[in-house]
Amino acid sequence: MKPSSRLLAFAAAGEDRAKPAPLTVSFVSQKGGVGKSTLARLFAVGAAHRGLKPLLADFDLEQLTCVEWNAIRLQNAVEPDIDARAFKSLKKLRKNEAQAGIVIADTRGLADDLAHEIAEDSDVVFLPTGASGDDLRPTLALARKLAKHGAEGRLVVVLSKVGRSEAQLQKAVEAVAVAGFELLPEYWPQRDGFQSDLDLGRAGREARNPYLRETAEKMEAALFARAERARPR
Ligand SMILES: Nc1ncnc2c1ncn2[C@@H]1O[C@H](COP(=O)(O)OP(=O)(O)OP(=O)(O)O)[C@@H](O)[C@H]1O
Ligand SMILES: [Mg+2]
Repeated sequence: MKPSSRLLAFAAAGEDRAKPAPLTVSFVSQKGGVGKSTLARLFAVGAAHRGLKPLLADFDLEQLTCVEWNAIRLQNAVEPDIDARAFKSLKKLRKNEAQAGIVIADTRGLADDLAHEIAEDSDVVFLPTGASGDDLRPTLALARKLAKHGAEGRLVVVLSKVGRSEAQLQKAVEAVAVAGFELLPEYWPQRDGFQSDLDLGRAGREARNPYLRETAEKMEAALFARAERARPR
C-alpha cells in the first residue's frame, strides 16, 4: 500500500466502519513541556495535507495550547484549516468526532487519570521525552504503567527537544531499548526557530526556514509511518 493509503481508507470509511471511533493517536507524557502539543500540531498539519480530516483534540483546558494556536492560525490565514477543539473528557470526544477522519489527542502533562484513559483508548500513543536520565526515567515508568493497563504494542517513545550531544542521544536510544520499548526512529531536535513558527500559527512542515522544514518533514513522515502500522484496538 502507498504511504497514507491505509489511513485514508480508514478515514473515508466514515460511519460504515465497524469500529465507531476514528483512528486515534495521542501524545502523552509524565513530565510537562516535552513537546506533546508541538508534535500534536505537527501531526495535525500533516494529516490535513494528507486529506485525513484531522480533529485536534485539546485536553489541556488550563493551557489550551492547540486551541489558542489555531485561533492565531485563523487570524493569520494559515491554510489548511485545522479543526482544533477542547474536550474535558474522552466521552465528549467520542460523542463529537463523527466528522473526523483521524483524531489527534493532546493531553495534559503529569499523565493524570484522563491522560491514562485517553492513552488506553488510542491506536498509537506517542510518548515524547527529553534524552536525559531525569526525563527518561519517568517516561519509561509511565510506559510500563500504560503497558500494564493494556496499551502494550501501541506505545512509542519519541526523543524530543534533543540537544546536540550525540553521546547523550545514543545513551537514550540504548536506555529505551534496554527497557524493551519501541522508539520512533526519528528524533525531534531542539531548535528555537520552531517556537517562532508556532507563535504565528504554523507547525511542523510549515516552518519558514528550509532546514527546519526538512527536519519537521522527517519527523512527520516517521510519525505517520508508525500510525500506518497501528493495529486496530
Ligand atoms: N524542537 C523544539 N525546539 C525548541 N523548542 C521547542 C521544540 N519543540 C517544542 N518547543 C517549545 O517547548 C515548549 C514546550 O513545548 P510543548 O508545549 O509542545 O510541550 P508540552 O509537552 O505540550 O507541554 P505541557 O506539558 O505544558 O503541555 C514550547 O515553548 C515549545 O514552543
Ligand atoms: Mg501541551
